[in-house]
Amino acid sequence: MTTRPRNPRSRHWFDAQDLPGFVHRSTLTPTGLHRRDFGGRPVIGIVSTWSDINPCNLNLRYLAKEVRQGVQEGGGIAFELPAMSLSENLIKPTSFLFRNLLAMEAEEMIRGYPLDGVVLLGGCDKTIPGLLMGAASANVPTIVVTSGPSIPRDTPQGVQGTGTTVWRFVDNLRSGAAGSDDFVRFEDEIMTTAGHCSEMGTASSVAAVCEALGVALLGSTMIPAPDGRRAQVARQAGRRIVEAAGQNGMRPSDILTKAAFDNAITTLCALGGSTNVILHLLALAGRVGVDLTLDRFDAIARQTPLIGDIQPSGVHLTSRLYSAGGIPTVLRRLGDLIDRGCNTIEGVELGDLLGGDRTEDTDVVRPLDRPIKPGPGLAVLRGSLAPCGAVLKASAADGALFSHRGPAYVFESVQEISDRIDDPALAITPNTVLVLRGVGPVGAMMPEWGMLPIPKYLMEQGIRDMVRVSDARMSGTAYGTAVLHAAPEAAIGGPLALVETGDIIELNVDERRLDLLVEEDEMARRRAAWMPSSQRFTRGYRALYGRHVLQADRGCDFDFLVGLDDDTMPEGLF
Ligand code: FES
Ligand code: MG
Repeated sequence: MTTRPRNPRSRHWFDAQDLPGFVHRSTLTPTGLHRRDFGGRPVIGIVSTWSDINPCNLNLRYLAKEVRQGVQEGGGIAFELPAMSLSENLIKPTSFLFRNLLAMEAEEMIRGYPLDGVVLLGGCDKTIPGLLMGAASANVPTIVVTSGPSIPRDTPQGVQGTGTTVWRFVDNLRSGAAGSDDFVRFEDEIMTTAGHCSEMGTASSVAAVCEALGVALLGSTMIPAPDGRRAQVARQAGRRIVEAAGQNGMRPSDILTKAAFDNAITTLCALGGSTNVILHLLALAGRVGVDLTLDRFDAIARQTPLIGDIQPSGVHLTSRLYSAGGIPTVLRRLGDLIDRGCNTIEGVELGDLLGGDRTEDTDVVRPLDRPIKPGPGLAVLRGSLAPCGAVLKASAADGALFSHRGPAYVFESVQEISDRIDDPALAITPNTVLVLRGVGPVGAMMPEWGMLPIPKYLMEQGIRDMVRVSDARMSGTAYGTAVLHAAPEAAIGGPLALVETGDIIELNVDERRLDLLVEEDEMARRRAAWMPSSQRFTRGYRALYGRHVLQADRGCDFDFLVGLDDDTMPEGLF
């Protein structure tokens, strides 16, 4: 076997010829390992969110075997560590609530065990962000291997994914263009293979961003879940993490630099990706001490055209993007907008991996000078209704509404929307600004309710977009002029709490403004009369969440998880 540098972490458990060393080594005898197997071989954790309650991650068990094979080929020792699985559509009240819990679990597991490197296996929306935030805090060399997109259905109506296609179907149901027979057939056909949503929803956006950050193998993330090439990259990741575990400069804090985050944001904007990724990147940056704010997203969005023609901002699915060369093609096409000098976990700079431009499918990834939209794909709005910021996925919204002034109709809960939105007595018109509040991180753990439904009678008239404002999030596969993440949120007394039905709200995307046009003395009167509702949860994780979650402009991490520890060793080891 090749000699490798002694590893800084696992040797503290396994090298010593004393009682603790004896206990640590002999504990692993049932796994087939022997004292002579240790000898400085890198110990790799395969941290996986596999669960059969999470079909987006259904192939991770198989991929874990491939990673293990790669680790062994590279001369390392692999252990699988199961982590909480977050199945987007099934876990309630919202998977987002548990992202931070998964991050805490991953961090403490990685720090607490004798690991010199980790491979993170996840796929569904919040799994990779949670794992990566945790690994970044543990600051042990890390490679992300995603589950990959599911296989879309090829139909006479075009390829159909699992997210945007569903939203469009719901629109058709509400407008009467689809009926209950279609509903039953659709249910049978819509989600049939392992893998995450195949649009540029949150899962695909996070995956793309991992390549841009340099923490996933370049070209790996858009390989469809059942494709054998995914097993190849899993093996490659296993071999590579063994090398990286013994090299300097390979820790997350070495790779997740300010320039790497810029590359990630540029990629997100170029693909018209999920607004959820804004929250995840803000939180991740906080973990590694990078000063990232919403203003940086807006600045990058202004200079980045939409070049990826993928749903929900465009027409294709990630399968087509993969055929066109995947994320490397996007990064190459972005030219000087990407900093090629960034480190990657592959041990070379991003530019060395990318090489020069090639002729690939220019329909799905356009050249910079022939974009789908010039930009911005994303807009950060501020104003009297969102002093700390709100976001809009402009690439997937109707530009005709970007300069809009209309009366608010305020909903206090999603139940109220469900009960009343279709009632013509509310007199909602296409000009109305639909407001939902109390659904921010403290108020309701920030569910994906920001794409408020349009009243049925307006859908029947052909209205497909309206201005909507909330402190909620929106599914990465959703679309529309939905102003999201308003901060500070209503539950802590943000101005959204003070809006009354009939107040005029003004949105001006060009000027990045979102204003409530109510006189200051009237606002002062309302502010004085406002009463916070009492904390709903008094025990358990939910109580912790309500007390410590940061606002959306800081990524909704917990206040006590921000910042990097210098020491990656657990306390009191010996
Ligand atoms: Fe899992 Fe969309 S539901 S990625
Ligand atoms: Mg989603």
